[in-house]
Amino acid sequence: MEDVVKILGFAGSLRKSSYNRALLRAAQELVPKDAKLEIFDLDGIPLFNQDLEDQPTEKVKEFKAKIRAAEAILIATPEYNYSIPGALKNAIDCASRPYGDNAFEHKPVAIMGASIGMAGTARAQYHLRQSFVFLACFALNQPEVMVPFAQDKIDKDGNVTDEITRQKIGELLENLVAWTRRLKG
Ligand code: FNR
Repeated sequence: MEDVVKILGFAGSLRKSSYNRALLRAAQELVPKDAKLEIFDLDGIPLFNQDLEDQPTEKVKEFKAKIRAAEAILIATPEYNYSIPGALKNAIDCASRPYGDNAFEHKPVAIMGASIGMAGTARAQYHLRQSFVFLACFALNQPEVMVPFAQDKIDKDGNVTDEITRQKIGELLENLVAWTRRLKG
């Protein structure tokens, strides 16, 4: 029996009925048997202030510890004004500092995202990939899980009802687990 790959997932939306939080919950149902997905809530992470980066709050400490304890990261991002939400960028900034204490370093990471528009977070996802370069994490390239018209694929109780979306999330997780094992050597 292989070791279970520990994945930490978080969504870039703080909204209770968020479609992106719904994607993460679906991922928890669809995670392969040889992996486990824990969801972390970004709500409560303070605005990053470099003057205070050596005194992180308990929430930031917890976030960094969870990232470090995980072997892989899964981010579900909304698209806000053609980019990632400020709350997500801020959380990433907090976990990447102070310099030399970047919790994301060398982590395998996968992205998915849902929007009500027709581009399905494509523009936001490419911005996020750009940040991964400086974060020195290992982005999974495929599949690209971009869910357009999320209101037609996720019901009002937050269940992902669209079969193709569920298949793609399952494929993303399988590839993330394989990518993680490959990087572990
Ligand atoms: C949006 N939305 C949006 N959608 C999109 O496809 N491209 C965009 O650039 C934007 N921009 C944008 C800005 C802001 C400030 C908000 C609040 C929303 C709509 C967005 O897709 C929709 O609100 C989703 O429901 C957000 O994701 P969650 O909260 O459901 O996970």
